[in-house]
Amino acid sequence: MFAVDNNSMNYKLNNGEYKKLAEIVYNCAGIDLGDNKKELVHARLSKILRKRKISGFQEYISMLRTDKTGDELVLLLDAISTNVTHFFREKEHFNFLIENICPHKCSGNFHFWSAGCSSGEEPYTIAITLREYLMKSASSIPHILATDLSTKVLGKAIAGIYPMKAVENLDISLVKKYFLKGSGSSAGSIKIKKEIAKMVTFERLNLIEPLPFRQEFDVIFCRNVMIYFDNETRQKIVNGFYNALKPEGYLIIGHSESLNGIKHMFKYIKPTIYRKP
Ligand SMILES: C[S@@+](CC[C@H](N)C(=O)[O-])C[C@H]1O[C@@H](n2cnc3c(N)ncnc32)[C@H](O)[C@@H]1O
Repeated sequence: MFAVDNNSMNYKLNNGEYKKLAEIVYNCAGIDLGDNKKELVHARLSKILRKRKISGFQEYISMLRTDKTGDELVLLLDAISTNVTHFFREKEHFNFLIENICPHKCSGNFHFWSAGCSSGEEPYTIAITLREYLMKSASSIPHILATDLSTKVLGKAIAGIYPMKAVENLDISLVKKYFLKGSGSSAGSIKIKKEIAKMVTFERLNLIEPLPFRQEFDVIFCRNVMIYFDNETRQKIVNGFYNALKPEGYLIIGHSESLNGIKHMFKYIKPTIYRKP
């Protein structure tokens, strides 16, 4: 017998409340929930309401609107955002990096940005790829800035600890070289090694706010993030990426994404890969 999980049924979310929540999420994070995410929002936010003993969605919306610290919003966005990721996701991008980008310029002055890095698998994959390419011979190693909106995933990324399952499809030699196997109370986990962790800096950054960079990056990875935005928000973010890239820098987006419908000056290299002239 399995118990029916009817916890989220304790709270009713009416259409008006859903609209207000969707508006708050859109204004704060650019995430377009549309009309069909009501059940998901209901399920995810009911957990917060229950944990915090909040009487209902009306009270929760007032708390969000009156909170001056911004902490409530952070919790809301942590609960709403979709953080699915894995090591070497969309592997062709890392092959492209080795075959087409690294041979031309790959040194300590080379700067990467993983925008929407989730729990760190993407920036750590970039770091492992670069390490493998440069081996120990490099006197200076490139740096990767990794940013996300969600403090929850950034905490995981900084810890760099993952279940063993996260590396089960990776080449065993890479796992041995770049991860530490947990034992005792950490059995079943692996931890990214320091030599990789120190190549990456994690920061919280909301992509819909004006970017604090100008011509700083050689490569920007922003994969599987812009799918959550509408065209207007995408347009602003792509403009920001263009300005943040050095001339001849690359923008790499997710395989289900494209810059169709966006006005931009990037040169199209191949699907999902663009270059600033
Ligand atoms: C599906 S994950 C993608 C992770 C990784 N780039 C990949 O492709 O595997 C999307 C990430 O975008 C982040 N995100 C959503 N809206 C954001 C915003 N306005 N600013 C920054 N990050 C955002 C989410 O928190 C989430 O971690």
